[in-house]
Amino acid sequence: MEKFKVFITRKIDQMAIDQISELCEVDLWPGDLPPSREEMLNHAAGIDGILCLLTDKIDAQLLEATGPQLKVISNMAVGFDNVDVTAATRYRIPVGNTPGILTDATADFAFALLMAAGRRVCEAAQYLLDGKWQTWGPSILLGADFRGATLGLVGFGRIGQAMAKRATGFEMRVLYYDPSTQPVPGLNAQPVQDLDELLAQSDFVSLHVPLTEKTRHMVDAAFLSKMKPNAILINTSRGAVVDQTALYEALSKEQIRAAALDVTDPEPLPLDDPLLSLDNCLITPHIASASHHTRTQMAEVAAQNLLLGLQGKPLLHSVNPQVYEEKP
Ligand code: GLV
Repeated sequence: MEKFKVFITRKIDQMAIDQISELCEVDLWPGDLPPSREEMLNHAAGIDGILCLLTDKIDAQLLEATGPQLKVISNMAVGFDNVDVTAATRYRIPVGNTPGILTDATADFAFALLMAAGRRVCEAAQYLLDGKWQTWGPSILLGADFRGATLGLVGFGRIGQAMAKRATGFEMRVLYYDPSTQPVPGLNAQPVQDLDELLAQSDFVSLHVPLTEKTRHMVDAAFLSKMKPNAILINTSRGAVVDQTALYEALSKEQIRAAALDVTDPEPLPLDDPLLSLDNCLITPHIASASHHTRTQMAEVAAQNLLLGLQGKPLLHSVNPQVYEEKP
């Protein structure tokens, strides 16, 4: 039997590659950096399936260049704003993603950012490296308290809910705003009807929404002006949810206390970006799901989605299940 032709856009867990190789002729991108646009278009031509990462733009032009034999797009991420799902659906190509398995790792990291920004961990480490540590001081590097503080979750899907569980252990009060979610029993978290109400009450605001046209620059000057002056913003969703110019203004004027971002726009963030000059802005390089076990599992699910799609079977997780509906 002739093997399917697939393009895997970066080295992923070897077990996943071996599994795919059993059924497929694999073109594995060897670089540590993503293929350029031109390289993407060249490698995609004639393939049956693609296993891609959030750094790869999969749009209508790429689908055209790939050809009508393309059967599946498997994105190794829970977010899929890098894929033009509307175009893929038009071509009736299922798009897979990897939800669920990265919930805990991502919430762990979001909570780590919350605590690091609240207790100024990176600033304190830098203070030491700068030779400023001369004595124990009663008012050196004071930070936030967590017990009794209010955590406001914007978005209450899997990761938002996992944040609520962690915050409960720290005896925080949890509010969430998510018009698309029904109340979740057993979680110590109260819904609010109005985002402004959440912003007015929260000492920490953590973002857990997908990037869509609705959420792009949701955190703008108006949003930031409604936060408490002591509040800390945490973003582990997508960089473009935050208007970074507005955030820089708010942080530099100490209109809010601090921000901790695992995602930026663009990625990587250029080293001369003004946000990097601020002591009250902690930025990490999009690593919230980066635990050994989680990344292995993400590769495994992405491989499964790819193989199922190639065989015309429903994916484990597909973001456009309407492609399976009968044509009208
Ligand atoms: C990471 O950001 C993901 O969407 O999986």
